[in-house]
Amino acid sequence: MADDIPWERLFEEAARVRSRAHVPYSHFPVGAAVLYADGAVVAGCNVENATYGLTVCAERNAFAAGVAQGHSKPVAVAIVVDTPEPCPPCGMCRQVMAEFGPPALPVRSRTPKGGEARYTLGELLPHAFTKDFL
Ligand code: THU
Repeated sequence: MADDIPWERLFEEAARVRSRAHVPYSHFPVGAAVLYADGAVVAGCNVENATYGLTVCAERNAFAAGVAQGHSKPVAVAIVVDTPEPCPPCGMCRQVMAEFGPPALPVRSRTPKGGEARYTLGELLPHAFTKDFL
């Protein structure tokens, strides 16, 4: 499946939405794009808040938008952040990804300069808490 994933398109979407990030406090824009099993691509950027604590990451905004648009089976996640090394998603976002995606979900992160890191969700969040425990 990983070979069938249109990574370039996903990274283009992530970079495009990253330019819309609302980051007046951190000046750290992040873009994320999620490919779903039905072929849909849903993107999200980070949206900060003057309270700081109400900030929502790009990845979680992308997953929330996916739910709102009726998509439930993520098959790939692309993230773009301008850091010296490719940046992995934060812990909260990993947990949100685990709500919807399997441990094999591929997650890739790129920098605009061309660095890339490749993970699976299971590598990022081993022993995830899921509905299976409820
Ligand atoms: N951020 C994300 O959007 N995704 C992550 O996985 C890590 C952090 C955002 C939150 C905040 O707006 C800024 O990056 C700095 O932490």
